[in-house]
Amino acid sequence: MAKIYVTTAIPYVNGDPHIGHALDFLNADVFARYHRLLGDEVRFQTGTDEHGNKIFQKAGSLNLDVQDYVDKNAAAFKDFIEKLNVKSTDFIRTTDEAHQRRCQAIWEKLAPHIYASKYDGWYCSGCEGYVTDKEYAENNGVCPDHQKPYEKLSEENYYFRIADFKDEIKNKIESGELTILPEFRKKEMLKLLADSPDVSISRPKSQLTWGIEVPTDKNQVMYVWIDALSNYITVLGYPEQEISEWWPAAAQFVGKDILRFHAIIWPAMLLGLGLPLPKVLCSHGFVLADGQKMSKTIGNVVNPVDVIEKHGVEAFRYFFLRHIDSFADSDFTWEKFENSYNNELANDLGNLVQRLATMAAKNGIKQIEFTPELDKEYCKKMDNFEFSNALDYAWEKVQAINKRIDDEKPWMLAKAGETEKLNACLTSLVENLLKANQLLEPFLPGTAEKITAVFKGSGEIVPPATPLFPKN
Ligand code: MSP
Repeated sequence: MAKIYVTTAIPYVNGDPHIGHALDFLNADVFARYHRLLGDEVRFQTGTDEHGNKIFQKAGSLNLDVQDYVDKNAAAFKDFIEKLNVKSTDFIRTTDEAHQRRCQAIWEKLAPHIYASKYDGWYCSGCEGYVTDKEYAENNGVCPDHQKPYEKLSEENYYFRIADFKDEIKNKIESGELTILPEFRKKEMLKLLADSPDVSISRPKSQLTWGIEVPTDKNQVMYVWIDALSNYITVLGYPEQEISEWWPAAAQFVGKDILRFHAIIWPAMLLGLGLPLPKVLCSHGFVLADGQKMSKTIGNVVNPVDVIEKHGVEAFRYFFLRHIDSFADSDFTWEKFENSYNNELANDLGNLVQRLATMAAKNGIKQIEFTPELDKEYCKKMDNFEFSNALDYAWEKVQAINKRIDDEKPWMLAKAGETEKLNACLTSLVENLLKANQLLEPFLPGTAEKITAVFKGSGEIVPPATPLFPKN
């Protein structure tokens, strides 16, 4: 039995959760549940990223006190994670007092790699970021996302000397000590690492007020990444507590847009602190709506709560874990969602459970005590973080049971009075269903529990009173 620590990116709380946010949570949950199935002990961090100008300004525009605003939104994310039936153990908020204190201690420990310098550059207040001269020229001096002219800004910043760690990070990525998934992103990250400048990690208080104060300079506030990335270890108590029981993380799940911070700044921070690097950084693609990026301006943002309310959390998990590729961008459309619900969940699985339970009950087949060995082929996919492929594989098993029923026609055996053959056939079908069900468990924990309750044990088989996935 191993101790497994798994983490998700912590979303900004400047809006409601949307379906894209679900991917980190669901992937990490599948990983965690799979490891629990293997008998491992799992610690599972998630939480919210609550500092920065965007959040500060958003609260202001709503006439809300910023702390009240982040409290409300953090609660909405927590609720969303629970609605997804994600079984996390730790929920961290970057405004937590303990996080802020520990983050300042981390800054002090990294001090040998931090220096102050003046920065002159083109800045977009909407992006809260600088652009290079090249980007400035390409965009004709106007931010394409915010339609605002860039401002010339000159300010004192602290910098983190990435250069101190480049070689070591490169070696660790190349040797596989730090695995970056998928493989094509690893190549991308190595290139970015080679070109990476030192990073600015603070802002003067005049620019940014809503953040953690730099412990060595009352006029500066930490800017985004040191504050946010530290959460993965402050939540374990670092540096006040020993964290080697859980750290390094077995896997950290992030979206493709923030992989670069996790593959460059984060390893540099860890090396600066003398800590080992996570074993795996797994990055997923984006969920698109009808082929487009979801955005409030286009008006194509899909509210996850609508999806869950319509067909339930199991259907939500199923769609996102099977039809949204584990690594590439994928499209959400209601049509695809409804088709997968009706054809796969309701027909392939729901009907199978109903049909088999009814036949078994009618023919006196009892529940069985049966804990199958985990399928090796499935484990290989899960160990490679190919979750959507692993769920495809589990589904093949479900379909194979349906095919066997159609081919072996147990009702004909019953009609012909071939009791022995009939019993053997139904028992073997129940066994196969329990095998497939075990593979489904990390993905569809609620459904797996129901299937187990029908077929596993020492009592009678009672068909579910209502279909597992009612058609509407
Ligand atoms: N706060 C940072 C993360 C800090 S981690 C130390 C952040 N927040 S975010 O709210 O913008 O994004 C949170 C996660 O959701 C990221 O992993 C991001 O990639 C993911 N997604 C946001 N929109 C998404 C889609 N449309 N599709 C898939 N994932 C997307 O970045």
